[in-house]
Amino acid sequence: MLSNRSRPVVEATLPVIGENIGEIARRFYGHMFGAHPELIDGIFNRGNQAEGTQQVALAGSVASFATALVKNPEQLPEQLLSRIAHKHASLGIRPDQYQVVHDNLFWAIVDVLGDAVTPEVAEAWDEVYWLMAYALIHQERGLYSARGVRAETVWRQWEVVEKVQETDDVMTFRVKRVDNRLVRTSLPGQYVTVKVQMPDGVHQPRQYSLTRADDGEHRQFSVKRVHGGGTPDGEVSNLLCQTTDVGDVLTLSLPFGDVVLDDSGRPIVFVSGGIGITPMAGMLSHLVAAGSRLPIRLLHADVDEPSMALRSQVLADVKALEDGAAYVWFENGADATMPFAGVFAGWIDFDAVELPEKALYYLCGPLPFMQAARSALIDRGVAPRDIQYELFGPDLWAADLLTETSPGADGRSASAAAAGVR
Ligand SMILES: Cc1cc2nc3c(=O)[nH]c(=O)nc-3n(C[C@H](O)[C@H](O)[C@H](O)COP(=O)(O)OP(=O)(O)OC[C@H]3O[C@@H](n4cnc5c(N)ncnc54)[C@H](O)[C@@H]3O)c2cc1C
Ligand code: HEM
Repeated sequence: MLSNRSRPVVEATLPVIGENIGEIARRFYGHMFGAHPELIDGIFNRGNQAEGTQQVALAGSVASFATALVKNPEQLPEQLLSRIAHKHASLGIRPDQYQVVHDNLFWAIVDVLGDAVTPEVAEAWDEVYWLMAYALIHQERGLYSARGVRAETVWRQWEVVEKVQETDDVMTFRVKRVDNRLVRTSLPGQYVTVKVQMPDGVHQPRQYSLTRADDGEHRQFSVKRVHGGGTPDGEVSNLLCQTTDVGDVLTLSLPFGDVVLDDSGRPIVFVSGGIGITPMAGMLSHLVAAGSRLPIRLLHADVDEPSMALRSQVLADVKALEDGAAYVWFENGADATMPFAGVFAGWIDFDAVELPEKALYYLCGPLPFMQAARSALIDRGVAPRDIQYELFGPDLWAADLLTETSPGADGRSASAAAAGVR
């Protein structure tokens, strides 16, 4: 809980910290990597640093955590931290590294705000930082111990036994364990971090969703090559798709991720765009393995049928379910050779299909796609708590969602219309 002494100080300085947190985050990372270049080797994602997305996610998380604390100082808003804790654990972040982040973050706060950081202000924000840090350390310790590992031992070696060209741009990798150690089970929807060495010698980690239920021997994930288009091509996705081959050994973390299938027995609707099909494929595969009898719907948007990754697998899984159906929307027109339950042109239209009552919704795809889909669902009366989303990058959305007030507000309808989802 936030102390009575710090609360008014944090409340009074939240606007100035909030206004400057983006610049603070930028200077923080620059300063930290200057002092600790080892953190960019195998821990931080330099693509996200170059794009500035990680800086925005960090800023958003600190601002939303502090806002929640000020509103309700008695209660730690721990639920805001679950996604971060899973991401940290998938990278093997250690408790002692929180001091390094602290020191560099506070250097950046003083660098940006100067004399405005009186000892009283520094003390109050120090308290916020350590509340957040200990909450994260605690959650991460729980994640490590549930898997019987330490931060240093989340990594395992896996041999590539199959590499399948799914589409022009997507490759599916099937990897097999190389030792006799127990393969830790994954929950449906989770991802692994894949760590590879780049040609300049630096190791780079990236997350990939698992696309098949566990069999105790293998893991499967699919990678879409990122084309730069004005910026550099994505380094890890291109390396994996172009260079990694059958027989190569890859370093993967254990599975983590907090967007997982709910087992409350409610119907499920998956809504995906493009490569966002991957966690849906993983969850569908688990549902088939579990012999689910629930109504399950997959609504997927893509450019056209040949661009849709994992289409054979997901269609076979949907058909294997007692009450499953897959509907697709293709930008290039309603042409498909495979037996989907419905094929439409354009963007996803929730009015075009009958959706099961009391369903839980899982979204994955580009951020504007998910924002539009979520808005359209809320406009149709779906409760926000029944919609979960997975993002393929640092979360730039969570802080915005926290400030939302009235479901069905105009802003959301407008974004739905703008992205063409009805
Ligand atoms: C939970 C989670 C699950 C995921 N699951 C999947 C999955 O199943 N399948 C999948 O394909 N992906 C998935 N991803 C995304 C994946 O982790 C990678 O982000 C993706 O493969 C791109 O990595 P990259 O190294 O190829 O691109 P990066 O090299 O990291 O580049 C990313 C972007 O940054 C830009 N950039 C790079 N350098 C600069 C620069 N100097 N200036 C400006 N811009 C720059 C690039 O042009 C590119 O647009 C997932 C991500 C998360 C977080
Ligand atoms: C209170 C302290 C911290 C906060 C508030 C914080 C916050 C965050 C947030 C918001 C993300 C993005 C999560 C997402 O949306 O996927 C993130 C990712 C990450 N954090 Fe932290 N973090 C903290 C401490 C640390 C520490 C101590 C380290 C280790 C040096 C660390 C390393 C990372 C890395 C490597 C990522 C992934 C970056 C990327 O993919 O670009 N963090 N953190």
